[in-house]
Amino acid sequence: MKKWFAVIGDPIEHSKSPAMHNAWFEEMDIDATYIPIHVASHQLESAVAGLKTLGASGWNVTIPHKTAIIPYLDELDELAQKMGAVNTVVRTQEGKLKGYNTDGIGFVRSLEDAVGTTHKNKSVLLVGAGGAARGIAFAMQQQGYRDLTMANRTVANAQAIVDEMGMGRAISLQEAEETLADFSIIVQMTSAGLATGNFSMPFSLDRLTTEAIVADIVYNPLMTPFLQAAEEQGATIVTGLGMFVHQGAIAFEHWLGSYPNTNSMIAQLKAQLGGN
Ligand code: ATR
Repeated sequence: MKKWFAVIGDPIEHSKSPAMHNAWFEEMDIDATYIPIHVASHQLESAVAGLKTLGASGWNVTIPHKTAIIPYLDELDELAQKMGAVNTVVRTQEGKLKGYNTDGIGFVRSLEDAVGTTHKNKSVLLVGAGGAARGIAFAMQQQGYRDLTMANRTVANAQAIVDEMGMGRAISLQEAEETLADFSIIVQMTSAGLATGNFSMPFSLDRLTTEAIVADIVYNPLMTPFLQAAEEQGATIVTGLGMFVHQGAIAFEHWLGSYPNTNSMIAQLKAQLGGN
């Protein structure tokens, strides 16, 4: 029987997940489909019951439901539990709903696509301490990154994550700016300007070294002001597109047992988003 998958969120119209997963199903000759479903917060519980009753094999969860969905699931994997957020639900053989979070590992895969896996002992500066930053920090820790510093406008928010990880250091944005040359990998995860579309810089990159690797988790636009400034300084840049594609690929693997072709998907989406 044809399998079906979905992404639930509010808003949902702009999600690129349906086109991505449907393209993979076609490419890999898998008899399945993936649909976007608009679910408002007050409908979440009945939507989960409906997805279960109607036989969805799994689904993605996006804003604003990533944390709110947890009480309606039967189990969580370790990383989703630590993050307190789920972006992927799998219906197990026994009919149970298991929640995963593939965002953080998706970021690590994207970083490692660009720079390999030999950077685990290098100093990493994580900029931001919101939900996205939390996921990436835990995933980097789980994947063996050992030198993590988290900078945030509200230092106490970064300190809380560092305390929970039991490793790393929390600093202010000003200290990050002043000590930027000490870091090999810098990851921009604040939502500075996201809501207005008027992206702003959390701090100046004047002290960035040319050896630095600078990543942003935003992929639309591909080139954020942070990445633009980093490129002007001669650093290696990693856009948020790889993270988006890999988080989807890891979800796909949880559902169907195989890893889809991420390189060609990144190239296709990059062309759509105006990259070269
Ligand atoms: P997300 O889910 O995208 O991570 P979030 O949980 O609302 O969003 O977190 C937003 C992050 O961006 C936080 O680190 C926030 O800093 P505070 O903890 O001090 O609020 C950061 N942020 C938002 N607007 C910012 C701005 N104008 N300058 C610097 N940091 C900003």
